Amino acid sequence: MTAPAPAAGSGTRPPSDETGGAAARRYHARYGSVLPAIDPAAGSTPPKHHPGARVLPLPYPPTFPPAPTADRTSPSPDPDLAPDPRDLEHLGALLALLNGVTRADWTDGRVRAGRPVPSGGGTYPGEVYVATSSGLCHYLPAAHALELLSETDLRADLAGALSPPPAAPPEVLLLISSRLGANLARYGPFGHRLQALDTGVLAGQALTLLESAGAAPTAHALFAQEHVGRLLGLDAETERVHAVVTAGRPGPVASDAALPNRRTARSGYEPAPVPLAQVLGVLDRAARPVALDHTPPADCDLYVVAHRVTGLAPGCHRRDPRTGRLVPVADGVSARELFPAGGPGELAAFEAACAVVVTGSYEAGYPVYGDRWYRMLNLRAGVLGQRIGLAAARTGLGAGLRCDTDTGAADAALRTPPDRTTLLAALLGPERGAGTPSHHLLFRPGGPPPPTG
Ligand SMILES: Cc1cc2nc3c(=O)[nH]c(=O)nc-3n(C[C@H](O)[C@H](O)[C@H](O)COP(=O)(O)O)c2cc1C
Repeated sequence: MTAPAPAAGSGTRPPSDETGGAAARRYHARYGSVLPAIDPAAGSTPPKHHPGARVLPLPYPPTFPPAPTADRTSPSPDPDLAPDPRDLEHLGALLALLNGVTRADWTDGRVRAGRPVPSGGGTYPGEVYVATSSGLCHYLPAAHALELLSETDLRADLAGALSPPPAAPPEVLLLISSRLGANLARYGPFGHRLQALDTGVLAGQALTLLESAGAAPTAHALFAQEHVGRLLGLDAETERVHAVVTAGRPGPVASDAALPNRRTARSGYEPAPVPLAQVLGVLDRAARPVALDHTPPADCDLYVVAHRVTGLAPGCHRRDPRTGRLVPVADGVSARELFPAGGPGELAAFEAACAVVVTGSYEAGYPVYGDRWYRMLNLRAGVLGQRIGLAAARTGLGAGLRCDTDTGAADAALRTPPDRTTLLAALLGPERGAGTPSHHLLFRPGGPPPPTG
């Protein structure tokens, strides 16, 4: 769904510190476009929890139904419907696949817990709140449970804070917040941009899941942020809502092994070619329309810098959004040029079959949406990153998102037009060996439930 563009900076009203893009431009020049010196020893802030809140365990293990045979339609909302245990079952599976702790990976000489969604540096700044007719809850990923924060139905108040409000009253709202300090110790102020990308990844995953559940979702970036934060009881100094996803009543999420199996190709890539059709399939899925509350003044572009893609000349190509075909941009460009020389990005790019790069225009959006466009554009890039990772998992390709590009060098390699810049990259290729061994913690689609003891 798209909507007419509101006045600059508008949520329901422009924030008082709105600068029409000047502040965002300054931030980007100083921090957002510059790879910081990352402190790998720095930790992350602890995940959110609400001491004293009632904890409602979600059905365990969460289950997938068999894959549907026909197109699914949205179950019609019925406000008088008695609470149905299946609703909790569907919500539980959805939340597990959105932000649950679903995997243990044998990696880097240790075992680490993983989630269905990637997150910059594995810092997971995102928190998920759920508003339904039963009240407001916060999802606890590690416990796979809900904290009941309020038994009041806040949906109308929350929907009223969206600008524009949704066409129909939503049955469910997912509120995606960021713990502002979650990655700043490690990344410095660059972490704010990473949080916007991470929000996009979570919003993209929520759209994927709710679409699969027949709930016709829309992701909202335009809303009265402070008001929504107050309704959730957030301390605005430490945590803010960065996206809201509204939806009808979710049915079951359709079975899709790629959802719990997606992960970063941590073992690296085989020096083997990838067929062009596989890469095009990933791009086509990424480029599908995104159900947003706003019309982007300029859409993101997708580039492929090919290294070992059968049927595609090595070099840089841009996806034509009208035809879906790859148009040659420059011969002889290597994906290594997208990353700082000698860094881990360059080595990973050398190994991968190709890099997919998402670019976009900050300048096109500031006159329409003001400073807020900075986060909106990175949110959109995060949605595309989420789709690329999931599409790669579906087609059996290894993938890894990268924000450690050298922005200037990448823009030069891609020959981006003057007002466009690199936002996010993803490396693709067949994962090395059998890949990192993984164990599913919450569920194994199509297989027996994991042991509970
Ligand atoms: C926005 C974003 C940027 C990322 N940038 C990098 C990067 O520059 N280098 C890297 O090795 N991994 C990067 N990652 C991958 C994360 O490190 C990875 O998702 C996280 O460690 C969790 O592991 P998993 O994807 O296997 O679940 C990025 C992920 C996201 C979402």
